[in-house]
Amino acid sequence: MLREAYPASLLNCTASEPPVAETAYSDSDQLPHNKMADAETQKKLEAGFQKLQDAKDCHSLLKKHFTKEVLDACKGRKTKLGATLLDVVQSGVANLDSGVGVYAPDAESYTLFKELFNPIIQEYHNGFGPEQKQPATDLGDGKTGQLPDLDPEGKYIQSTRIRCGRSLAGYPFNPCLTEANYKEMEGKVKKIFDEINDPELQGTYYPLTGMSKEVQNQLIADHFLFKEGDRFLQEANACRYWPTGRGIFHNKNKTFLVWANEEDHLRIISMQSGGNVGEVLARLNKGVKIIESKAPFSRDDRLGFLTFCPSNLGTTVRASVHIALPKIAAKPDFKSICDGLKLQIRGIHGEHSESVGGVYDISNKARLGLTEFEAVKQMYDGVKKLIELEKAAGN
Ligand code: ADP
Ligand code: ARG
Repeated sequence: MLREAYPASLLNCTASEPPVAETAYSDSDQLPHNKMADAETQKKLEAGFQKLQDAKDCHSLLKKHFTKEVLDACKGRKTKLGATLLDVVQSGVANLDSGVGVYAPDAESYTLFKELFNPIIQEYHNGFGPEQKQPATDLGDGKTGQLPDLDPEGKYIQSTRIRCGRSLAGYPFNPCLTEANYKEMEGKVKKIFDEINDPELQGTYYPLTGMSKEVQNQLIADHFLFKEGDRFLQEANACRYWPTGRGIFHNKNKTFLVWANEEDHLRIISMQSGGNVGEVLARLNKGVKIIESKAPFSRDDRLGFLTFCPSNLGTTVRASVHIALPKIAAKPDFKSICDGLKLQIRGIHGEHSESVGGVYDISNKARLGLTEFEAVKQMYDGVKKLIELEKAAGN
């Protein structure tokens, strides 16, 4: 069971009717009529399904797992907050180049639309099946010494970054948030940031509202701040009231940062130059514990920490290096080598960007079905192997 209790005021999903008063239900086939998606929504879903069927060059997990059976089973359903299957699939229908293609407008969506989410989650997270459970949190305290610098000579790795996502308990995800929710949430997290007094982590919160374009663009170019205008998020209705409630906290050295209300309520980040993964993880863990001691987060027994995108469940940890591997990255089988090591390749400006100057963002792919420490170790072991291969190739 998902442990979420939403205030009745948080009811604003766009693709659906305003919801009625909450009543508990478990079998969606027996939903009363006023809990059903309306005819127009169902028509849009049929059209979206057909668009995906007709798309020749679409390789998203959505297209693969959105079968006629799933459509028929789920198209009439509506969460207590009023979200429908259309809220789940609309980004992937609009963006046929999606890798995943779905988002969860609220926590309940993960169970109400499980016929679609479960196979997507299973394929994305190394076979994590519907009966499996996220293991207990293990941030790797006391074990960061097992992660010595991957590149002590500084030949390959430019920088290391580890981030995790968190959702404030009691609030749904972006498409169901009101403008008032954004303001309230920003106020809550700003208060938490203001109270951080660890000398290494303390810093300042900078709201996006009022930030000059120059500062914003510099923070983005330097890899500290999220981009603006992500079409995958926009089509998921995740950018409403932008820039209200969005912002970034960071310490003086920009080695500990927290994004507020971009894709997730919080993205907690530790990063620094070079390849000292243990140091980066130790800093992240210190920060996560401080923040967690001040705010309850949404966590599910099976799916671990709950976030907006099914690719970011469980640990929510993405540990990455920016790395130059000129020999092996030029090989046609570079992607399959990385797949075999359970690694994901991104470009230099993050997701959906390209490599520049042969530098790639290499990270763990799965975030669910393993512990936080194991997620980081997966990146660590994989990148260590890539460096060995690069050296063996004569670099
Ligand atoms: P996320 O990591 O939160 O899923 P992105 O892939 O969009 O999101 O990355 C966000 C930003 O973090 C981008 O500017 C990206 O270049 C930067 N980034 C990711 N990994 C590293 C790294 N190891 N070193 C420096 N910057 C990084
Ligand atoms: N919806 C986008 C896609 O399918 C992003 C998926 C994973 N990334 C993320 N930031 N949630 O390609």
